[in-house]
Amino acid sequence: MNQFYNRHFLKLSDFSKRDIFELLRISLKLKNDKKKNKEIKKLYNKNIILIFEKESTRTRCSFEIACYDQDAKITYLDKHNSHIGYKESIKDTARILSQIYDGIVFRGKSQKDIEILSQYSNIPVWNGLTKEFHPIQILADLLTIQEYLINKSLDKIILTYIGDINNNIANSLIEASLIIGFRLNLISPKKLWPNNNTLLNNLLNQDKIFITDNIDEGINNTDFIYTDVWLSMGESSKLWESRIHDLHIYQINKKLLLKTKNKNVKVMHCLPSLHLYNHYKKYFNNTIISKYNLFNGLEITDEVFESKNSIIFKQSENKLHVIKAIILLTLLKNKY
Ligand code: CP
Ligand code: NVA
Repeated sequence: MNQFYNRHFLKLSDFSKRDIFELLRISLKLKNDKKKNKEIKKLYNKNIILIFEKESTRTRCSFEIACYDQDAKITYLDKHNSHIGYKESIKDTARILSQIYDGIVFRGKSQKDIEILSQYSNIPVWNGLTKEFHPIQILADLLTIQEYLINKSLDKIILTYIGDINNNIANSLIEASLIIGFRLNLISPKKLWPNNNTLLNNLLNQDKIFITDNIDEGINNTDFIYTDVWLSMGESSKLWESRIHDLHIYQINKKLLLKTKNKNVKVMHCLPSLHLYNHYKKYFNNTIISKYNLFNGLEITDEVFESKNSIIFKQSENKLHVIKAIILLTLLKNKY
């Protein structure tokens, strides 16, 4: 039996370092097989349900295509076309869906909800993003990073995350660093550091994690620099002004890349991103954009987003392959 069979995937720390390397190995094999038209379809008798309480482009499409590629059937539910969480509890939903389906993808408001879902489901539950974690994204990111490494292993890299360190991407990166053992620098204004003291002290005491509000201190010699939107799904749009005020100096731009002193530094973003003024201008009044001079991008400038340092679209490409690996390994008993 393979080590992943029938397991849930709610957060990265559900898996060991060995599990993650095995997942990455199989994801890469699946990626190559698909490119060479050699993929073997193994999920022809499986039915998968996708429950998305929040919007998605990449994650939803990658789950759907992973299923289609493997001949599994899917149903998609969002908060408008089901009873979940309103007329019907998550606990009841879990027991009903477990009788009909073979696996559940859940993107939702909170980690607590996916924990309840998994507790009452006797089929694998996979996290498609919660407010607290986004493990599938970080698996795709690790695969992407691995593809760019020459003579260096994943545990030897320096990755710097800059911006809102209170969100799902930062939390899952922290888990990745603790499991894999790579160096993670977190750069953010002190106001956005975890306000739970135990959590913060725990972070401050980690050998491989360095947290600072000082860009120069955190960025030197980094191999990868990662950012995310300054306001995540589910957060009140009223927070935009204070986030922009707190985070505008932490934008990834050309000047910031120079500070890394690494001309080959790779730039990462989970997407979606607010880098193109003509796209995001409709969300903000011009006063705030002018006040902070954010005509060239918010968390990242368009120039850097489109530069040769950016590996952003590789990250989104790899989502399909890691998702396929997780579905296959948790649904099928045999070793892959
Ligand atoms: N990065 C990511 O999860 O994208 P979507 O919200 O489009 O799924
Ligand atoms: N932190 C972002 C990630 C989107 C993929 C959000 O939760 O909106």
